[in-house]
Amino acid sequence: GRIAVLFGGNSAEREISLQSGAAAIEALQSFGVDVVAIDTQENAVAQLQQQELSGAFIALHGVGGEDGKIQGLLEFLNIPYTGSGVLASSLCMDKLRTKQLWSGVNLPSAQYLALEKSTDWVQALAYLGGEAMVKPAHEGSSIGMSRVNTPQALKKAYEEAAQYDTSVLAEQFIVGAEYTVAILNGEALPPIRLQPNSDFYDFNAKYLADDTQYLCPCGLAQAKETELKQLAKAAFTAVGAEGWGRVDIMANAAGEFYLLEVNTVPGLTGHSLVPMAAQAADIDFETLILRIAAQVTA
Ligand code: DAL
Ligand code: MG
Repeated sequence: GRIAVLFGGNSAEREISLQSGAAAIEALQSFGVDVVAIDTQENAVAQLQQQELSGAFIALHGVGGEDGKIQGLLEFLNIPYTGSGVLASSLCMDKLRTKQLWSGVNLPSAQYLALEKSTDWVQALAYLGGEAMVKPAHEGSSIGMSRVNTPQALKKAYEEAAQYDTSVLAEQFIVGAEYTVAILNGEALPPIRLQPNSDFYDFNAKYLADDTQYLCPCGLAQAKETELKQLAKAAFTAVGAEGWGRVDIMANAAGEFYLLEVNTVPGLTGHSLVPMAAQAADIDFETLILRIAAQVTA
């Protein structure tokens, strides 16, 4: 049957999603799949109802597409879709509640605090060990994020992040290495180590700069790499995520891992990490898309 690729949407990550969607469409068409492209910015409900669809490939990032809303609509319309269901999508879109859940099942993530207007900035920074990442709870692609090490900067970073979201959190900054682990149909793909040439792996480093280094193999000893993959799978399972996704993880100088977040619809652009990890496992881009789509075509 016909598969809809859902992309675009209205989130701050719209531009990324346009690229992910175009790439997914091209790959599916290369296998002769009957594809219809639906930009959910325009009348998503009517477009979904007009088509005789046997499934939907979700290539939407951020609010409205990655957060359970479109998943709920598809459930309601009885259209099978790729990736995680309503609950896991919603949960993973909220970095604060994701961390609360991991704490509850004893999975490691960095010390954190919800920030508010009335936060005592001096105390908050001390609690976070003197250096923190401030993030809107519901954004992706590092939008609205800053790294701070003074109370004044913490307050300013809160105000900046609060422009994007009513919920803002600060996390202890882990000095060390950042890794990401792609999950595909229950398996962890080879981890990637990210070495941005900036303060942290920010929007610029993710999509614009070409001086970020991606190491895959990631350089960890075999046993550590296995531990990293196990942690990623445990974190993915704990939030109830399904199908595919990507778990971001920091390691401190002592080599201890700290979970950052789960992306339930990670990017599929030329700069994106899941395609890179797939490549390292000898899965080319088209095959990757086909395996993700298997959730609705099988
Ligand atoms: N949020 C972006 C799309 C990613 O995780 O790749
Ligand atoms: Mg993200």
